[in-house]
Amino acid sequence: MRNANQRFTLKARPANMVGPEHFAAETLPVHAPGDGEALVETLYLSIDPAMRVWINEDPGYVPPVAIGETMRASGIGRVVQSSASGLAAGTLVQGQLGWQTLATLPASQLKALDLALGGPLDWIGALGPTGLTAFFGLKDVGGAKAGETVLVSAAAGAVGQLVGQIARLDGCRVVGIAGGAAKCDWIVRDLGFDAAIDYKAEPDLAAAIARACPKGVDVYFDNVGGPTLDAALANMVLRGRVVICGRISQTAAGQLYGVRNLGQLIGRRIRIESFVVFDFASRYAEAWRWISDRLRDGRLRQRIHLVDGLDSAPAALAMLFRGENFGKLVVKVAD
Ligand SMILES: NC(=O)c1ccc[n+]([C@@H]2O[C@H](COP(=O)([O-])OP(=O)(O)OC[C@H]3O[C@@H](n4cnc5c(N)ncnc54)[C@H](OP(=O)(O)O)[C@@H]3O)[C@@H](O)[C@H]2O)c1
Repeated sequence: MRNANQRFTLKARPANMVGPEHFAAETLPVHAPGDGEALVETLYLSIDPAMRVWINEDPGYVPPVAIGETMRASGIGRVVQSSASGLAAGTLVQGQLGWQTLATLPASQLKALDLALGGPLDWIGALGPTGLTAFFGLKDVGGAKAGETVLVSAAAGAVGQLVGQIARLDGCRVVGIAGGAAKCDWIVRDLGFDAAIDYKAEPDLAAAIARACPKGVDVYFDNVGGPTLDAALANMVLRGRVVICGRISQTAAGQLYGVRNLGQLIGRRIRIESFVVFDFASRYAEAWRWISDRLRDGRLRQRIHLVDGLDSAPAALAMLFRGENFGKLVVKVAD
């Protein structure tokens, strides 16, 4: 039905954990595209931990999603009607489509997919913000070099699975931290990580990291923060680098964890640095080529966790914070 747009708006800001109760479903008439705009049918929506931050009163680095506004989400869609020159109906595009079935957006905010580099699911994962985060975070912020030991948390998730594989391709020794035996087995057997640590089964995570990284950790790629960051800090080598990519253990937590091992930074001259993927926007093409080449010949793989239908989006967001996703979490909205 092309004359009705189904969407989810933000109903209330969560104090801690996010859930379907924070969103409201609505059906609206489709807004026909004006000059320079296109009507896009949503195919896939990316579900990202940052979405929980965007619905805070003050996300800190982007404007908040307003109450009553369509929930912000990046996605892949197909242009169904266009009033913009250079963007024909049928074109597959990437953009901030939001949690809705039909988005009317300025063409300037849509990027036509380069299908020579990858298909729609490649563009929502490894070629999308997820892969760019792994690529620039590891190589530029972490400066990982061949022969070094790279430790990555949330290693079976969207960013983590790619960080580990990119580090392996660059000649590093890679250890992943993930929740549960299935995720740990997968990153070692299928992705070629050198070792995995199931943090949920380890009473002393710092000791487990020391066993898995006998020469210490050169680069820790932190996706989770909290006690995992503390355990990694205890194992850094002299002039080690800590990449603060995310802190999902704290994003929806009631009680924040106070990191205790910052003293390690001094004696060991550790550099701790954060980044936001769009800091590297001028260099995306470099990453797209590198990633696409390796996806094509199978050296780089990505696991996608698909959930079906726009209606599952609000519940899907909560899955990230319970470790219920295995790989990159994506909502499939239409074929
Ligand atoms: N800086 C940037 O520009 C940028 C861009 C994209 C993403 N990020 C960040 O990168 C991180 C990973 O994002 P993603 O999209 O790849 O998500 P993801 O790893 O696919 O999903 C989140 C994973 O975090 C783990 N997790 C959840 N709660 C946890 C806890 N309390 N302690 C430890 N682990 C926990 C779960 O895995 P387990 O089952 O293993 O616990 C869950 O599957 C997030 O922190 C995100 O904010 C940053």
